[in-house]
Amino acid sequence: MSFALEAVGVSKTYGTVKALDGLTLEIPRGGIFGILGPNGAGKSTLFRIVLGLVRPTLGETRLLGAPAGDIGALRRIGAVIETPRFLPWLTARETLKMLALESGEKAPDIDGWLSRVGLTEAADRKVNGYSVGMKQRLALAAALLTKPEVLILDEPTSGMDPAGILEIRALMRELADRDGVTIILASHQLDEVQRVCDSVAILDRGKLVAGGRVDALTGINERLRLIATPTAQVLEILGAKGTADGEHAVFAAITRNEAPALIKALARADVDITEARWIGGDLEKVFLDSTGDADAR
Ligand SMILES: Nc1ncnc2c1ncn2[C@@H]1O[C@H](COP(=O)(O)OP(=O)(O)OP(=O)(O)O)[C@@H](O)[C@H]1O
Ligand SMILES: [Mg+2]
Repeated sequence: MSFALEAVGVSKTYGTVKALDGLTLEIPRGGIFGILGPNGAGKSTLFRIVLGLVRPTLGETRLLGAPAGDIGALRRIGAVIETPRFLPWLTARETLKMLALESGEKAPDIDGWLSRVGLTEAADRKVNGYSVGMKQRLALAAALLTKPEVLILDEPTSGMDPAGILEIRALMRELADRDGVTIILASHQLDEVQRVCDSVAILDRGKLVAGGRVDALTGINERLRLIATPTAQVLEILGAKGTADGEHAVFAAITRNEAPALIKALARADVDITEARWIGGDLEKVFLDSTGDADAR
């Protein structure tokens, strides 16, 4: 298997703070991978090490199979790490032109990227007057200019309004699905990660505490809530998998695959089902259970 990013026993200490504490992690190529974790979990530190901006105290990382800081691998990467800074007196178009020149990109599609990140109208305004969200968009265009195979994004939608978040989320999905870019994004916005990522790793205090496919992780705590009468009969059919929720509802701790058989069994037993709804199934519970932290609440 070829990996976009690998970390083997990576630790980074700043004085007495262990930003990363023996982190081992493999991120395959393809799709969108989320790195979740409360503030200070070590997400940005991991990215800085991978990009060769910071040296690990222990362990090693690989980017597209190459050691940290490898120029060849870095050329195949685009990254936006925390708040981007630009020359304030240049416009977005001038900024991208300058960056394309610097990176040796021969025929950069500047108009195309400005449009894909939603900056066409503001393209000829000075970056000085840009809002935080607009700077994020420009940083994204700058990272995409060289058509990277892997895109590393640290909190890509921080500072963006809800419509902007939707737009960027759609762009990320499109980049992954249509352009084949592997996207690795760090976030503590559970909702965003759940909606856009295929797989996640959850970090806490520099350690990997949970991970896997988002659908599998969220499936763990999903339950079917049934409003049905008589509830006694529903509980009898469910056995150990059923718990009453008040007088008229029952929680069924079953998987989605088991649902059709359950509904049929209930119908055969002449139970009247008024409502059947999946409850839970979000990353929040997985996150809070594994980080034992209140930051995400
Ligand atoms: N240059 C530095 N000097 C001292 N401590 C640092 C430095 N960089 C990071 N740290 C510490 O390392 C820990 C991990 O920080 P990091 O920025 O990687 O967390 P994060 O997961 O990105 O958090 P956030 O969600 O707030 O962005 C924190 O305790 C932070 O204070
Ligand atoms: Mg960070």
